Amino acid sequence: MERLSNMDLEEVDWIHSLPLFYRGTGDKLADLQQAQSVCLDSLTYLLQAQQECDLKISRICLLSSRALPVFGTVEQPLHGMLAGPLSVIPQEFGIQTLWLDVEDTPPDTGWSEVAFALSLQEQGKERLALRNGFAWQSETSTLPTNNQTTAIAEVEKAGLFVVTGGSGAIGTQVCKSLLSDPQSQVAIVSRNPSVPADLLQEISRIHLIKADIGNPDTWATTLDSIAEINLPITEIIHASGVSEGNLISFRDPAETHKKMRSKYEGSIFVEHFIERFQPTRAIYCSSMSAVLGGAGQLDYASSNALMDSYAYFRNRAAPHTVRTAINWEIWNESGMAVSAELHDERHQQHLKVGLSNDEGRRIFSQIRTASLPQVLVSTCNIEDSQYFYRSLIGYNLENTSDSAETKLTSIQNQTETLLLEQLGLNQIDHDECSMIWGWTPLLFSILWVCLRNTASGCYFLKFLETPL
Ligand SMILES: NC(=O)c1ccc[n+]([C@@H]2O[C@H](COP(=O)([O-])OP(=O)(O)OC[C@H]3O[C@@H](n4cnc5c(N)ncnc54)[C@H](OP(=O)(O)O)[C@@H]3O)[C@@H](O)[C@H]2O)c1
Repeated sequence: MERLSNMDLEEVDWIHSLPLFYRGTGDKLADLQQAQSVCLDSLTYLLQAQQECDLKISRICLLSSRALPVFGTVEQPLHGMLAGPLSVIPQEFGIQTLWLDVEDTPPDTGWSEVAFALSLQEQGKERLALRNGFAWQSETSTLPTNNQTTAIAEVEKAGLFVVTGGSGAIGTQVCKSLLSDPQSQVAIVSRNPSVPADLLQEISRIHLIKADIGNPDTWATTLDSIAEINLPITEIIHASGVSEGNLISFRDPAETHKKMRSKYEGSIFVEHFIERFQPTRAIYCSSMSAVLGGAGQLDYASSNALMDSYAYFRNRAAPHTVRTAINWEIWNESGMAVSAELHDERHQQHLKVGLSNDEGRRIFSQIRTASLPQVLVSTCNIEDSQYFYRSLIGYNLENTSDSAETKLTSIQNQTETLLLEQLGLNQIDHDECSMIWGWTPLLFSILWVCLRNTASGCYFLKFLETPL
């Protein structure tokens, strides 16, 4: 990086091809670590180094192979994590980012096609795939209200429904929905499982499995405990997780992976579960953040995107399991968005448009009757909803037509976002701003990063084609 910065280049385009060259070994855990390294950590180091060297990267192209579901399935689900950097890098650094997924791995890749696809970035395309001589882009469409649904077969109503995180907020509503059928039983898997207060009257149909799904050493015992319940296993609903994160500039990969094991390793646990029990259905409780990102949310977005990707994975060892990822909008009565106790105005506005428990439960049971691989649940249209997924680069200060006051407000907003993220504050009292301005050298470095960077209902996803 130092050598590049010494070359006095006006602009640098960075093609991040590590994910393209990486081939899995078949060892799920080793492959996960490798994918985290090539999809997330190497980019972290790159972006941290470019700040230190004062190099201006203008565009980043993320290259992968067979990781986007153009024809309905993916072969490299782990590289689905790239959706995190795709949305978060522009939000934190203002660097235009493209994800290009090709069909073949080197040396068979058609590099002229790749060059053409890169030129499409000029037209604002962010997620592209090359297949059969066409460039494909993903598109989000509104799910028609008369969407054809299939009744849940009798055989799918009975049996055991395994819910990871079943005592959590979303998990509780999932269990409530499942137990509304008198034939069903649920197994709640979590580190400290308990029967949710709402469901005490159904206690005889609830099994509790104490397990940390982020710890692979305990997976075999956990799966054995589920088998010992001795009921045919119908579905798994993956509703466990945590929310941790940091701005990429301050991200420590090892520390973050450790904190996020229930999300990253948790998805691998679910894959082991599916292979062993071959359930009819697997439902992943993902987040809109996997699509819209959010400053400071690289790992949250990437780990949710990993689940989205597994929803498109055709595992040859369990080909009949129908998979669906639900990208939930924020829930406003219970759950991690409420317990985070963030008091800043934007979060409060987001909670106001969030989902109630009843709405969430109703949507969950609706989605169970459809066999779509991915459903985005958003209470407002997705463009509007982007506002809630914080960007540090919300405004271009070089826009000369704006008044000084508008520019000042923008600087204030961006600075507030950084303060909230980095100093662990929930809200800033504007009257106390002069005090905050005087704080620590850390603050000045944050401000510097900020100012330097400033220049720069239900939906489903499908791919559209553009001829080359
Ligand atoms: N709430 C929202 O607004 C929202 C929106 C979009 C997506 N989501 C996603 O939906 C999922 C559930 O969210 P929530 O709001 O229901 O969260 P929550 O209320 O905090 O519940 C999380 C659950 O996960 C379990 N869990 C955490 N780490 C675990 C581990 N290592 N092994 C086993 N279980 C573990 C927890 O139980 P123990 O502590 O007993 O282990 C808890 O039951 C999360 O993945 C979240 O990202 C939530």
